[in-house]
Amino acid sequence: MPSRQNAYYEKTFDGDTSPLVKQATSLAIAAIKNGDLPRIAVDCGCGSGRHIAYLRSRHFLVHGFDIEPDAIEWCQERFKNDMDVHLDVASFENYNYPTATLVMAFASLFFCPATRFDEAWRRISDSVRAQGIFFGMFMGKRDEWAERKTSFGNTLTFEEEDLRQHFEYFDILDWHERDEEGGTAMGVRKHWHVYSVTARRR
Ligand SMILES: C[S@@+](CC[C@H](N)C(=O)[O-])C[C@H]1O[C@@H](n2cnc3c(N)ncnc32)[C@H](O)[C@@H]1O
Repeated sequence: MPSRQNAYYEKTFDGDTSPLVKQATSLAIAAIKNGDLPRIAVDCGCGSGRHIAYLRSRHFLVHGFDIEPDAIEWCQERFKNDMDVHLDVASFENYNYPTATLVMAFASLFFCPATRFDEAWRRISDSVRAQGIFFGMFMGKRDEWAERKTSFGNTLTFEEEDLRQHFEYFDILDWHERDEEGGTAMGVRKHWHVYSVTARRR
């Protein structure tokens, strides 16, 4: 019987790449061309690796990590012949981040324990090199899963103003707020309140 997490990893294995991820990747590629930056990306909370696969298709060397050993097992099998994918079981606040031109956290920081977020965010923002791009999603207060207990602890939520203050070392390039009923998570319709932020490190 697959675990709930494994069912999620199977379902998202070949999931579509969001236009916001594509946009952030294009911005990183432009920065690489303009600034002679290294083509290195980090995927924080990588799940079964759909974004790692996308970033490999765009020729990035990719470092991916996830707190769930099952996720990393999916990725190890998937990328077993690819020397340009580096995988670790780690959490946001203790991962040994390389310096990267693109750092992304797709639907993963929702699950960062509130008590660990400051350290996690310090490390994440420090890992984005000057002129590099961060893309991440953060849960807003009106999400149906706000403050909900999960296997990782309660979900982490932000007020917009508080979240914006975390980007003091960045220029925000795109701020997308989704606040609506619709779309499913693991087959269940829900109200989504999510900030997707694309930002350039100064
Ligand atoms: C909703 S899934 C998204 C997975 C992947 N980013 C994707 O888009 O397919 C959230 C992921 O975050 C991981 N995660 C949760 N808490 C974490 C933590 N503290 N550190 C690292 N990863 C974490 C989970 O194990 C899970 O794989």
